[in-house]
Amino acid sequence: MPLIAQPDHPPAGAVLARLHQIHSAKGYLPEADIRAAADDLAIPLSRLYSAAAFYSAFSFQPKGRYTIQVCLGTACYIRGGDRLLEKIETLLGVKAGETTPDGMFTVETVHCLGSCSMSPVIRVGEETYGRLKVNLVGRLFKKYRPGEPGQKGVEEQGT
Ligand code: FES
Repeated sequence: MPLIAQPDHPPAGAVLARLHQIHSAKGYLPEADIRAAADDLAIPLSRLYSAAAFYSAFSFQPKGRYTIQVCLGTACYIRGGDRLLEKIETLLGVKAGETTPDGMFTVETVHCLGSCSMSPVIRVGEETYGRLKVNLVGRLFKKYRPGEPGQKGVEEQGT
């Protein structure tokens, strides 16, 4: 162990930038790409894996076309976030953390989406839906199926 700390080479920012580049291009972090990046950056593979594992924004598995984030933070949970998750899991036939067989949706739970005043809240891709009622979830997902008309955007369903 050196007595004087050695600077990171390459710096952590370069490692994260490379991971972000791969994730943006592929939608997840394929093993072959991580190995190639480790070779390019001349760093141990473990350094890339530990950085990727630390940040929840990175995924090692392919995700669906749309990621559904169901908020189970306190405000959303007490207003039925858990019931929304149950309904979504039932409708799509997958559990949180899984992707539908058609590759359309990946379901995730999160602890706050920063829209507590609109709880319960879910995000589908880049769209946020607040004050969502369980009985409207099915209709909402039809908007994301190919060939089915619909209008995406923030929906407030009243209290
Ligand atoms: S707790 Fe759900 S948006 Fe904050």
